[in-house]
Amino acid sequence: MMNTQLTDTEMLRVSGISKTFVLHNQGGVSLPVLQSAGFSVRQGECVVLLGQSGAGKSTLLRALYANYLVDQGEIAVNTESGWVDIANASPREVLNVRKTTLGWVSQFLRVIPRISALEVVMQPLLEQGESREKASVKAAELLERLNVPEHLWHLAPATFSGGEQQRVNIARGFIVDSPVLLLDEPTASLDEKNRDVVISLIREAKARGAAIVGIFHDEYVRRQVADWYYDMTSCELKPAQ
Ligand SMILES: Nc1ncnc2c1ncn2[C@@H]1O[C@H](COP(=O)(O)OP(=O)(O)OP(=O)(O)O)[C@@H](O)[C@H]1O
Ligand SMILES: [Mg+2]
Repeated sequence: MMNTQLTDTEMLRVSGISKTFVLHNQGGVSLPVLQSAGFSVRQGECVVLLGQSGAGKSTLLRALYANYLVDQGEIAVNTESGWVDIANASPREVLNVRKTTLGWVSQFLRVIPRISALEVVMQPLLEQGESREKASVKAAELLERLNVPEHLWHLAPATFSGGEQQRVNIARGFIVDSPVLLLDEPTASLDEKNRDVVISLIREAKARGAAIVGIFHDEYVRRQVADWYYDMTSCELKPAQ
């Protein structure tokens, strides 16, 4: 499928998704978290998820990455080979959609022992078949933009500060030009200077046509990036201002 119009093309369509967690080792207590959630995201637009702590924002984002299974509903992703319902896809299809279409920035970096920060950032690009030289140049550019000191680049991030680890994670999430980006509190432990770098990265991603779903507890960041707000409680999508 060819995407000819930048701003009008739908990239992600979520419809009627529901999820209840059942805590089997705690007396089978069930927690209904998502009830018939739905919205869609177009190229170049950012939908920000709104709701109090515990409202299910991270759960919804994880469902969009197929990290969590849902009980009901569809999550259609516009991939280079057509629409795929990632909520009901095989594990192999899920991996393929992630590789070609979905980028994900979690709040915390999953630290792998002995792998350097530069290598962690390069990895998604290498997986796409990019050369090591080009991947390391791009990784270095991003780490520099995000003010990660150069003497740390060749060290494993396990001993980095929270904010340093988060910036490595952000560089990793933005190194590939993913058509759809999912961001869970990427600015949560950053200072203002680095928060502004992340805002610029998000805006640049929108300008190249990325469809973004994000969670930002910081009102200032939300106002800088949101085109739409999705209210987790009312299940309504509203335009930003
Ligand atoms: N893996 C899980 N197993 C059981 N319950 C879970 C699981 N993940 C989340 N929950 C529950 O689902 C609810 C929603 O959690 P979620 O992390 O999605 O909230 P959130 O809106 O992201 O909150 P916050 O703003 O605090 O990050 C919470 O009550 C949480 O306890
Ligand atoms: Mg959360």
